[in-house]
Amino acid sequence: MRTRYNAKAIQKLNEFERYIKSKEEIQNILKNNGNKKVYLEIGMGKGDFITQLSQLDKDSIFIGVEVSLPVLALAVKKLKRYEEENNIKLENLYFMSFDAIDIANIFENGQIEKIYLNFSDPWPKKKHAKRRLTNEKFLAEYKKVLKEHGQIEFKTDNRGLFEYSLVSMQNYGLKFIEVYLDLHKADVLNIETEYEKKFSPYGPIYKIIVEY
Ligand SMILES: C[S@@+](CC[C@H](N)C(=O)[O-])C[C@H]1O[C@@H](n2cnc3c(N)ncnc32)[C@H](O)[C@@H]1O
Repeated sequence: MRTRYNAKAIQKLNEFERYIKSKEEIQNILKNNGNKKVYLEIGMGKGDFITQLSQLDKDSIFIGVEVSLPVLALAVKKLKRYEEENNIKLENLYFMSFDAIDIANIFENGQIEKIYLNFSDPWPKKKHAKRRLTNEKFLAEYKKVLKEHGQIEFKTDNRGLFEYSLVSMQNYGLKFIEVYLDLHKADVLNIETEYEKKFSPYGPIYKIIVEY
């Protein structure tokens, strides 16, 4: 997702109180929230999915992670508008910006309940395989912060990334809990992401749930 740098939007992002800029800040929030469960979406884009998800469970903490600041600025703008229009404030929803590979520098061991990876960039060239968010390097970092038997929920419309992820997760020794070859035909609760809305008319959505 390429988005132009907009200084004013970045300033507004920086002023948003639920945009968390450091490990110390998020750890304080988590400490003040005692035993609440913590769910992460990595590569949340404009944040529709985690915004909806956070409303289904007000007793848990939801953190949307997006490496691109311009994209995150758009997510904040969208969330503010959504909250205004619906006259609500999603106090259990936070946004952060860091690269997924650094996750274990932000969170403590076993702190996270579940990680959502939705429509991650496919990086189709073989030479870029290490950048895929389901590469073993990333799976090893997620393991550090996930609680025992913590899960990853992964969705994509990209057949190549789906197949790669099945093999990568299998080789890593993860336990497959659910696999869908056509999620939209399955009778399960599904919150659609921006990419999902855009690309599902052109083919099936694949989904994998795995456990460590
Ligand atoms: C294809 S978009 C999907 C956005 C959203 N999840 C959706 O389904 O609509 C992938 C997003 O992941 C972000 N991303 C890519 N690599 C990342 C990384 N290593 N860490 C965090 N975010 C990343 C990109 O900036 C982009 O916004």
